[in-house]
Parts: sequence; C-alpha cells; structure tokens
Amino acid sequence: MLESYSRCWAEIDTTAIAHNVNEIQKIAGNTKIMGIVKANAYGHGDVTCAKALRECGIDFFGVSSIDEALRLRQAGIQENILILGYTPNEHFHYLHEQNIVQSLVSFEYALQLNAYAKENNVVLRAHCKVDTGMCRTGIIYQDQEKNMDKIIQEYRLSHIQVEGIFSHFPVSDELSNVSKAFTLHQIELFQEVLENLKQEGIEPGIRHIQNSYGILNYGDLGFDYCRPGLLYMGVTSDDSIDIVSNPDFIPILSLYANVSLVKWIQKGQSVSYGRHYIANKPTKVATISIGYADGLPRMVSNQNLEVIVNGVKCPLIGNICMDQCMVDVTNVESVQQGDEVCIIGTQKGQRVTVDEISRKAHSINNETLSCITSRVPRLEKRVK
Ligand SMILES: Cc1ncc(COP(=O)(O)O)c(C=O)c1O
Repeated sequence: MLESYSRCWAEIDTTAIAHNVNEIQKIAGNTKIMGIVKANAYGHGDVTCAKALRECGIDFFGVSSIDEALRLRQAGIQENILILGYTPNEHFHYLHEQNIVQSLVSFEYALQLNAYAKENNVVLRAHCKVDTGMCRTGIIYQDQEKNMDKIIQEYRLSHIQVEGIFSHFPVSDELSNVSKAFTLHQIELFQEVLENLKQEGIEPGIRHIQNSYGILNYGDLGFDYCRPGLLYMGVTSDDSIDIVSNPDFIPILSLYANVSLVKWIQKGQSVSYGRHYIANKPTKVATISIGYADGLPRMVSNQNLEVIVNGVKCPLIGNICMDQCMVDVTNVESVQQGDEVCIIGTQKGQRVTVDEISRKAHSINNETLSCITSRVPRLEKRVK
C-alpha cells in the first residue's frame, strides 16, 4: 500500500491498541472485553483492529451485520462474532455455515430464526437482547412493560442456543443525576432479568451491558463481558464530557495528506468556493490533498481548524472542497509540494486531535472517525 500514491492516508497504531486494552482492563477488572469492530471499526479498519485485539487475547467481536461478520471470517478471524443488529432471512444460512452468533432483536425475530433452524435441522447460536431503556432492539424490560415471559421463551426455543444476554446504555456518558439514575436503573432491571431467569432454572450464558462510557463511568460491574469500541481506539466521543475514570488512552488513528501546491496570494484575493476567505495581507497558501470526500467534514470550513505543516500549526482557510483544501502556511518557513500535513495526530511535537474536528462539526468522534471514507488507505503506523 505504502508504495502506491496516496493523496491522503490514515495510519493505525496497533501497538497503541494493546496499550488501550490494558487501560480498559484496569477499569473493567475481571470483565472480559468484546471488541466492537462494527462499521469498519469506526473507520479504523475492522480486520486490522480485530487482529490486534486478538493478539491481546480478545476472543469475542461485535459487528453490526452479517457482511461485516463475513469480512472478519474471510480474513481468518476464527473467534466468536456477535451480530449486534438484524440479519435478514435470506442470509440466515451464513449464521450456521460461518458459526456466527446472532442477537435476538425481538421475540418475533427469535421465532423466525427458530423456524428456519428447525426446518434446516441446525441449531443457531444467539444472544438475547433485553431492552432496558434504549428502545432500539431487544425485548422490552422496562418499568412500563416487562416482557419476562418472552425472554424465558427465547431460552426455551428448540433450535436456538441462547448463549448470552445483553442490554445497552443510552446515557452512560452523562453524569447528571437524572442520567446516572437512569443508567443505574437499567443495571437493576438487567439484574432483575437475570434473577428471574435463575428462578426459572435457566442459565443466562454470558452477560454484557457496558459500552465505552459504561466502562469509564461505572467501572467493574461484575458481568462477563464489556463491549468497548471507542476506548480501544484511544478516544472518547467528546473530550469535553466529564468522566469518572480518566485513564491514559492513546488515539490509534492519525490522518495525513500531502501538499500539492504552495503559492503566495495578495491582499484582497479570495480562497475556495463561496469566497468566504479573503486575504487581508500577502498570504502563503498550501493546497493539500484531502477533502470532504475523504471524510474531512465540509462543515468545519472557515472555523480556523488547525493542521500541522512541518511542525507548525496552521489554520485551514476557505471552504473545504471535495478532494482538496487550503491552509495558511505564512508562518511556515519552508514548505513545498509533497510535504506531509498532519490532520489528526502528532508531528514534530505538535498535536491535533479528532476532538477539534468533531467539535467544529457539531458532532462526536464516533461519527467523524467512521466517516473517513473508503478511498483513504489505512496503513499500519510507520516508525518515523
Ligand atoms: C450494542 C453496542 N454495544 C457496544 C457499542 C460500542 O460503543 P462505544 O464505542 O461507545 O464503546 C455499540 C456502539 O454503538 C453498540 O451499538
């Protein structure tokens, strides 16, 4: 990959993944980690991340769909894979052919899956999804409606082996009293479900509920697995949100582009579409080869987003174009075509973070990172 020409590229530091896993484990205690690698591991590269996580002893991966699960299998990942979302009927056969664990997204869905398995004389592996407050997927078990009977019936289906049970937090990132009470109540509800299963003589299998903020803010809850995505990637959703544990995470992704042109413009000349930047003095401008079609959100245009050019932080000027954008490099003594510009990461002791891009885009790091597009090659980090 490195030999080929790249306008821009992302580097993934797999050593940092091992460091981050270690940091997560310090907080999660004996709770094992299920590595969430859905959406191409939020743009970091699912196979690269899964392989690095496997090196750390991680034996379970979470994906959003069957195609993501198959990608991992094709890349030689033989560990457990849980599909967190829904698999359509016509793809059920992959579940047993490829030994993949399916979330039971509803009771009716479990019946459908069971009917398929019975007809084909197979037993499918599954985890029961309990909806304790997200109202997205799973059997609702909330104060307003507690469908314990359906949860029990899922465990008793003839051709589904329910090997685990899980739920999900919508506000584990918020430390307001209301949000903390909500999350703690979800944990209580989940425990109530487990207790009810016990009363019925049902072994629930592996239990998991915590996403990244669930780990950071609620520590070791004593369940079997936790499900971090962001944390092993070394970031949080938004660095301005208060968190209870503040470990030493290292962001694993850096983003770079090349300088394609350097020129001086005079006072009064405008830069890029819309002419939103007009030079008020002679300005040295570098055009760099990254744009919104690479995942640098157009929305961060004209907000002084800084990138690093030869060790100097410089602001983007004018609108971000599809494949290119412009940088004010007046303060950089020496800059020329081909120089490497750091958009996310560190260069010569300077650091720019994805948080800054997300803030200016009114978004969260989850979105910014997963929107780095497929034409940006992901390379394993080079020693510089
Ligand atoms: C069901 C489920 N579990 C775990 C995660 C991982 O979340 P995070 O990246 O915040 O750790 C996600 C991500 O959205 C999810 O949907």
